[in-house]
Amino acid sequence: MYFGVDYYPEHWVYPYAGTAEKPESRWEEDAALMVAAGVNIVRMAEFSWGICEPKEGEYDFGWLKRAMDIMKKAGIKVMLGTPTAAPPLWLSRKHPEILPIDAHGRVRHDGTRRACCLNSDIYWDYTQRIIRAMAGALGKHEQLVAWQIDNALGGHHTESSFNDETRRDWHAWLEAKYETIDRLNDQLGMRWWGQTVTEWQQVPMPREAPTLHNPSLVMDWMRFNSDTVLAYVKMQADLLHELTPSIPVTSNLRALTRRFDHFDVAGALDFVSVDNNATIKTRSSETACELDMLRSLKKTGIRTPDGDNGFWVVEEKAGQVNWQDVNSLVRPQVVRLFTYQLISRGATGVLYFPWRQPRLGTEKFFGAVLQHHGRKDGRTYQEISQVGEEVKLLAPVLKGTKVVADVCILFSHDNDWALHQPLQPNKHFSLREHVQLIYNGFHHRNVPVDFARPTEDLSKYKLVVAPSLHLMAGGEADLLKLYVQNGGTLVGTFNTGLVDEHHIAPDQGYPHDLTDVFGLEVIEFDPLAPGDENHMTFKGAFTTSHLHPAKLWCDVIEAKGCQVLATYAKDFYAGKPAITMNTYGLGKAIYIGTMSHQHFYDDLVVWLRQLVNLHPLLKVPDTVEVSMRQKDDTRIYFLLNHQNSPVRIQFYKPMHDFLSSSTIAGNYDLPPHGVLVLDEHGSLTKPADPNAYP
Ligand code: GLA
Repeated sequence: MYFGVDYYPEHWVYPYAGTAEKPESRWEEDAALMVAAGVNIVRMAEFSWGICEPKEGEYDFGWLKRAMDIMKKAGIKVMLGTPTAAPPLWLSRKHPEILPIDAHGRVRHDGTRRACCLNSDIYWDYTQRIIRAMAGALGKHEQLVAWQIDNALGGHHTESSFNDETRRDWHAWLEAKYETIDRLNDQLGMRWWGQTVTEWQQVPMPREAPTLHNPSLVMDWMRFNSDTVLAYVKMQADLLHELTPSIPVTSNLRALTRRFDHFDVAGALDFVSVDNNATIKTRSSETACELDMLRSLKKTGIRTPDGDNGFWVVEEKAGQVNWQDVNSLVRPQVVRLFTYQLISRGATGVLYFPWRQPRLGTEKFFGAVLQHHGRKDGRTYQEISQVGEEVKLLAPVLKGTKVVADVCILFSHDNDWALHQPLQPNKHFSLREHVQLIYNGFHHRNVPVDFARPTEDLSKYKLVVAPSLHLMAGGEADLLKLYVQNGGTLVGTFNTGLVDEHHIAPDQGYPHDLTDVFGLEVIEFDPLAPGDENHMTFKGAFTTSHLHPAKLWCDVIEAKGCQVLATYAKDFYAGKPAITMNTYGLGKAIYIGTMSHQHFYDDLVVWLRQLVNLHPLLKVPDTVEVSMRQKDDTRIYFLLNHQNSPVRIQFYKPMHDFLSSSTIAGNYDLPPHGVLVLDEHGSLTKPADPNAYP
């Protein structure tokens, strides 16, 4: 397993470190400290273009080679970033047309990072030149094990620009998709406000306008921007594969927040990497959810430097960030805890960001492995060294293990983009919040979850949950039908199938193309203001621990053959179905017509677990997060206490504590922010009885 740091040797030369005689002398000290902390990889160079090519065509990779040589002596491998996230100033001065233009027609200027339009041919050309030069100079270095393409693609809202070259590509993209102007006019509903076009060149980019653009057009604009990012990534990946075929490529993604299709981009990479900001999250389940999303981006065809499965976290924040109003310190043992959370959810490489707090630039007061003083007695360095020791022990037993889930939550970027458009039926509805409530239900019961696009093969999952697929493409609905028909259990919800892939509303009832699967029709829907509540009355099939409210949205449902599990308690639709279940083919389709509080989703999961026979991992108190990696007869459980106080866990059978090499039985107090790694091999692997636990 790779365990490392993000290192910026260019920051640690005279006059910031070293001496006038030996300007780079700090680098050897850094390498020695890294080795002592268990580090076996560094990521470098992702912002170094202006230093590697200070003037056009004049390259200087010597400093980077010297840094890599020092790493070689220390036995540390290297991931290099292609430096295209920070174009040098000479380039934008020579070609100001590469600078991105915003929706208001204003230039976003140079002098920081990401100031480039990804539709610019010139930028593509210079990208290829710097990559060829870098791969030529360093691609055969023994230490190089991976390339990171660019850095934080789409960051600082740079997924789209409104340059002339963007317009050119936009029109070509539309022409390739629709082939005829008539088809474009029809499928995008351009008759709305009489905005039909007679030539491709007339189709607007959705720039700042008196009011809102046609949502069908905006959907295509989002897809076009996503394809632009994807094409840029593919171009870099293809070039790197050609120049250094044995070196896998990755890129650091964020949890589905950037406005491009993360599944598509993951498909162009050999393995997925992630930036993780766990230190700012209020609930551990939020990070867990993000990690499960990111792990799910690439399920097959993974090629990592050590041949292991899984994803890498190439920026695990080693301390506090610097962009909140108040950037409090991360408490002792919390970085260790978060590292185990990454590993437990499938990470096979972890690199902390950054190695040392920079003395220069905008990120001076970001938490880091080393503080400004660079000494080894700092708290974070000590804690990470402890993790480094533990990872050395764990790596052999983790090799080849992975997270296995029987449950899948569906997520599509098309749908997310549709739901982010203005003028929603209820602007207080958030897809992310809805997904999180459902996810938490599984997380609270320690049931592993994958994410997938609706177009993936879902047949291996016992249960598929599809929260609010507002935009439902015909093909997606057909695949869901097939899944249920063949014996799967599908849970659908309100705000599903209200528009098709072109953002056109259906004329055959909601949810579009799925009324037969659910055995119902949504006749109307009633968005509720925050604070307004209806209630659900349950009809027996479903045991409930609380009175469950119906919030934000109530579908008015007409049952057409389905069983009614709960009804609304008041208003003109009192007594009408709120939750239903239908048998379709060999499977079942459950429909939840409203949103509720967390207790409802917890109860829902208890019921679903019995319905489809899901195995919880271990019985532990709610405040302990459990995840598991497995391979053949080996199971490694991770128990994480996210609380600042001890938690008592009762073990009904003896378990082996991997880190202390001892056996645990009976009561065990997991310390504040503590971690337990339990391993089972061979005959102990009988799954837990799903009904034995509350
Ligand atoms: C991203 C970037 C890093 C750093 C952090 C700051 O993760 O990749 O270089 O700027 O943001 O939060």
